[in-house]
Amino acid sequence: MKKPVIAIDGFSSTGKSSISKIIAKKLGIVHLDTGALYRGITWFALQNCVDENDNINLSELFKSFHLIELEFKKEDEELVLFLNHINIAKEIRSNEVSENVSLVAKQKEVRDFLLDAQRLIAKNGGVIMDGRDIGTVVLPDADFKFFLTASIDERTKRRYSELLSLKIEADETKVKENLIERDRIDSEREISPLRQAEDAIVIDNTNMTKSQTIESILQYLTKIN
Ligand code: C5P
Repeated sequence: MKKPVIAIDGFSSTGKSSISKIIAKKLGIVHLDTGALYRGITWFALQNCVDENDNINLSELFKSFHLIELEFKKEDEELVLFLNHINIAKEIRSNEVSENVSLVAKQKEVRDFLLDAQRLIAKNGGVIMDGRDIGTVVLPDADFKFFLTASIDERTKRRYSELLSLKIEADETKVKENLIERDRIDSEREISPLRQAEDAIVIDNTNMTKSQTIESILQYLTKIN
């Protein structure tokens, strides 16, 4: 039997990735954090395509796509992203990447570059993919779609603790500003904006623990099956 394709979209720091990771393990399917792809491209741009003011030079980035080799390695049912053979898991969580990623992700060239790779992974089923446009654009025919949301203060708290646990220096006010700004750019962009798919199940997890959110998603998955 074909394993399910599950799309999880939502605002920044609603726990999409960590929740998807656990659900993937429980169901024996693969998890793909698509935000990591956009962060990876942004990290590459910050290393290789900046102008004299250290701002990303987008046309330089678009000309450099052929130099970017993205590779997923399966580790414990999880896909870990390597860019040009480097594991950049920690680097892509830096403040610099967070501050630039939404501007990079709104570019049509960047989205086109990443679209096929995401679809290819879901081709044979058995995947839970989290992002902003999975249920609407990347996998509109997903078997299950969820949209996660939570209050900005709760999301700030979560991102701030995540950064501290990664030993990345953080200022809570700046973290909050970055979340608001990213959600604004992500929602207002022309191509594949952050939007709830019409057929998505919405979960506001402001007052829910991670386990409660996972339980709620698993209940939907088994109820409908
Ligand atoms: O999920 P995460 O917060 O790591 O995503 C970082 C950024 O990548 C988002 O703010 C958004 O700009 C972009 N993104 C996107 N589409 C996706 C996943 C992430 O535009 N499917």
